[in-house]
Amino acid sequence: MRSEQPPGGLSNPLGRRARLSRHVGLRLLEAADADELFAVIDANRAHLSLFLPWAAGQTLAGTRAFIELTRKQLADDNGFQMAIVKDEKIVGVVGYHAVNWADHSTTLGYWLAAAEQGHGTMTRAVRALVDHAFGVWGLNRVEIGAAPQNTRSRAIALRLGFREEGTLRQAERVGGRYLDTVIYSILASEWRRPTTAPRAGVR
Ligand SMILES: CC(C)(COP(=O)(O)OP(=O)(O)OC[C@H]1O[C@@H](n2cnc3c(N)ncnc32)[C@H](O)[C@@H]1OP(=O)(O)O)[C@@H](O)C(=O)NCCC(=O)NCCS
Repeated sequence: MRSEQPPGGLSNPLGRRARLSRHVGLRLLEAADADELFAVIDANRAHLSLFLPWAAGQTLAGTRAFIELTRKQLADDNGFQMAIVKDEKIVGVVGYHAVNWADHSTTLGYWLAAAEQGHGTMTRAVRALVDHAFGVWGLNRVEIGAAPQNTRSRAIALRLGFREEGTLRQAERVGGRYLDTVIYSILASEWRRPTTAPRAGVR
C-alpha cells in the first residue's frame, strides 16, 4: 500500500483517516468486490452469525445487493460503508448505518474475519469513523449497539470512551433468538482524538 494516498485513492471519503496502519486501511466497496467479500463472509459464517442477523443466509446475490446499497447510501449522503483491507485483501466491513442530519447523530456497525481479531484493527477503524463524523460532518452523537454477550464489540465502545446508556430488551432477532441491545454513545464534546503513536506491535 502506498503511504501518500488513502486506500482506493483520493476519492476515499475518509481521506487520511482511512489509513489505519502500514498494512491496514479502509476503502469504499465496489461491484467488483462481490466475489471476494462473499468469500470472506462465507468462510466466517459461523463466527458472524452469532450476532449479525444477515450472516447465516447471506448469498452471493445478497452480497452484490449490499454493495449496490452502499453505493446508493453514499450517493444519497446518508453515510457510507468501508471495506477493511489488509495488504489489499478484504478482512471486514465498518460503516454508518445511516446519518440523522436533523439530530446530528449516527450509528455504527462492523465485523471482522475471525482470524483478524485481537489486533486492535476494529478499534482503529471505529475511531476513524467517529472522528470523521465529528470532525468532518459536525455531528453531535455517535451510537453503537451490541448484544450483552458480545463482549468484543462492547469492549470497542468502552475502549474509545463511549458511555453505556441502557439496554433495549429483545431488540434484535438473530438465528431464532431474541437478543437485547446495549446502547453506547459518545458526544462531540466528549471526543478527543488520541495524539499518541500506535502501540508497539501494531501492524
Ligand atoms: C466485534 C469485533 C469486530 C471485535 O473484534 P476485535 O478484534 O475484538 O476488536 P479489535 O480489532 O478492536 O481488537 C481488540 C483486541 O486487540 C487487542 N489490541 C492489540 N493492539 C491494540 C490496539 N492498538 N488498540 C486496541 N486494541 C488492541 C485488544 O487488547 C483486544 O484484544 P483482547 O480482546 O484479547 O483484549 C469482532 O469480534 C467481530 O467481527 N465479531 C462478529 C461480528 C460482530 O459481532 N459485530 C459487531 C456487532 S455489534
